Amino acid sequence: MSASVSQTAGKITTHVLQRMKLNHEKIAMLTAYDYSMAKLVEQAGIEVILVGDSAANVMAGFKTTLPITLDQMIYHATSVAKAVEKPLVVVDMPFGTYQGNSKEALHSAIRIMKESGADAIKLEGGREIVESIDRILTAGIPVMGHLGLTPQSINKFGTYVVRAQEEEEAARLKEDALLLEKTGCFAIVLEKIPAQLAADVTHSLHIPTIGIGAGHETDGQVLVLHDMLGITQEFSPRYLRRYLNLSEEITRAVHRYMEDVKSVNFPNEKEQY
Ligand code: KIV
Repeated sequence: MSASVSQTAGKITTHVLQRMKLNHEKIAMLTAYDYSMAKLVEQAGIEVILVGDSAANVMAGFKTTLPITLDQMIYHATSVAKAVEKPLVVVDMPFGTYQGNSKEALHSAIRIMKESGADAIKLEGGREIVESIDRILTAGIPVMGHLGLTPQSINKFGTYVVRAQEEEEAARLKEDALLLEKTGCFAIVLEKIPAQLAADVTHSLHIPTIGIGAGHETDGQVLVLHDMLGITQEFSPRYLRRYLNLSEEITRAVHRYMEDVKSVNFPNEKEQY
């Protein structure tokens, strides 16, 4: 294998991700929604930061991703874009800002790019949103696709179970992936689909795929930061690997602080003026 593309590159661009796929170098993507976390994630060397509409769940406490607004996504994206230099910053277009109206889609995408300073946007769906993707691309805005389990359609699916297990849905997903590539998407997220299907799609495309619950053959992986750090506790799908149990650590630290306050152990003489 030749030298690491991402380590030798400066700013990670869509072209760098393309070269990483050609070089068989896996792409690491994580979500972030605020300045401080984004800085830490960049420090660790992540290639892509997704300002996901999962902010609706982990930052705002909604049950689905549907309620988050364009203004709220722009607020999160601005905080993240200010914090980082090297990673590619991709922003989710929220529910209702691009479906069924390509002119509104372009307007929403331009607002995200102009006001936040992010690098690219992500949309959920296949053939039904191709007109919107096409229009956004005409403005020079890079678009990441998202197929499989698309959480903005949860009310249609009715459940968060694995998608495309039946032949008909799998065939449709394969066609949609090829269509998104042909339309000009620079990468596609594949969420919660059988690993073999994700592998087939990955091998059929020139652009990178980024998986979440889609096995190891995708060109990269993405997780929600709060899930992999163990901040969220109630969400435990099979694909989620927790790298920390931060909820326990934080609770312990808050307890210790409370004890110190109540026992007048904090602040001590060195911690006052
Ligand atoms: O919103 C999000 O965090 C996402 C990832 C799960 C891919 O779309």
